[in-house]
Amino acid sequence: MQLFLGPNVQALEQEFAELCGVKHAIGVGSGTEALHLCLRALGIGPGDEVITVAWTFIGTIEAIAHAGATPVVVDIDPATYCIDPQAIRSAVTEATAAVIPVHIYGHPAAMEEITRICQEYDLKLIEDAAQAHGALYQGRVCGSLGDCAAFSFYVSKNLGGYGEGGMITTDNDALAYQLRLLRNHGHVEKYRHQVIGYNSRLDELQAAILRVKLRRLQGGNQRRRQIAALYNELLAEAPVITPHEVEGCVSCYHLYSLRAPHRDELSQYLTEHGIGHQTHYRMPAHRQPACKQWGLECLHLPETDKIADQIIQLPIYPGMSDAQVQYVADTVCKFYAGARGCR
Ligand SMILES: Cc1ncc(COP(=O)(O)O)c(C=O)c1O
Repeated sequence: MQLFLGPNVQALEQEFAELCGVKHAIGVGSGTEALHLCLRALGIGPGDEVITVAWTFIGTIEAIAHAGATPVVVDIDPATYCIDPQAIRSAVTEATAAVIPVHIYGHPAAMEEITRICQEYDLKLIEDAAQAHGALYQGRVCGSLGDCAAFSFYVSKNLGGYGEGGMITTDNDALAYQLRLLRNHGHVEKYRHQVIGYNSRLDELQAAILRVKLRRLQGGNQRRRQIAALYNELLAEAPVITPHEVEGCVSCYHLYSLRAPHRDELSQYLTEHGIGHQTHYRMPAHRQPACKQWGLECLHLPETDKIADQIIQLPIYPGMSDAQVQYVADTVCKFYAGARGCR
């Protein structure tokens, strides 16, 4: 019996490649590992700078650090919370080797402009699609929009396993070959290791579970979109900023994020009313102690810093009923009507 990289992993890789409309999908140990291996396979390392956002999970930054490169974080577009293409342009230096846009909360980054910049400056483009399984950008699936893309199968994701896992997608044959070597100790044949690689293999159990869940991904994403539309309608009168979908983008609504005045009091109120919620990213990467080594704490990223105090995520998952959405939205409205007198 094969416990790693067996028939289920191979089948999942094929099915996931079909979902993304790419030639190759390579199962790995986690989303962070997926990003790290992409950087390694593209030859990015010490002396290189990689431009990304602070408005992301720390794994994006860790992957750059693990590759030995330097993270350069820039501000976001407040309309989508994704990387601001103009900010990329301003941050490019001689040392810039790659850009990692993050399709945050499941909304695609402005890939057309970002691709143009990467072509202009000859930079590698790696999508952080950890939160964007099945999201669409101008009719193309996230994961097919750069040199390669990294997905996470962390349990809470739109496609989540029952443990850790990740996937890399690419159309580039040579890159796929390198990635397959790197994820499995540089192994080419029994007792032969071509390169110094990593232990980053997707296991059969996760792959078997993910294959079943993959069949439900599109339906689940559709339900998430209905829930988001219902929230938007029910919260139209509340003094909050609901998520905005840019034309040509189809979000998979991994998270439903509001910008809410008095966020921490609202959070407390939701807790008192039994409503689970989150505040990603209360402390963006440039404010994290772990990132002091690059002096990022000195950075002023106006949009990122502003929304860190405002953002809150309401519950969203395919099994959520309209009545539950109504209860959450009513509770938010009651908070602003009563406790805050905003309505
Ligand atoms: C945007 C983003 N990038 C990277 C990662 C890292 O993925 P993993 O937790 O599977 O290592 C995550 C996971 O939470 C994420 O949300």
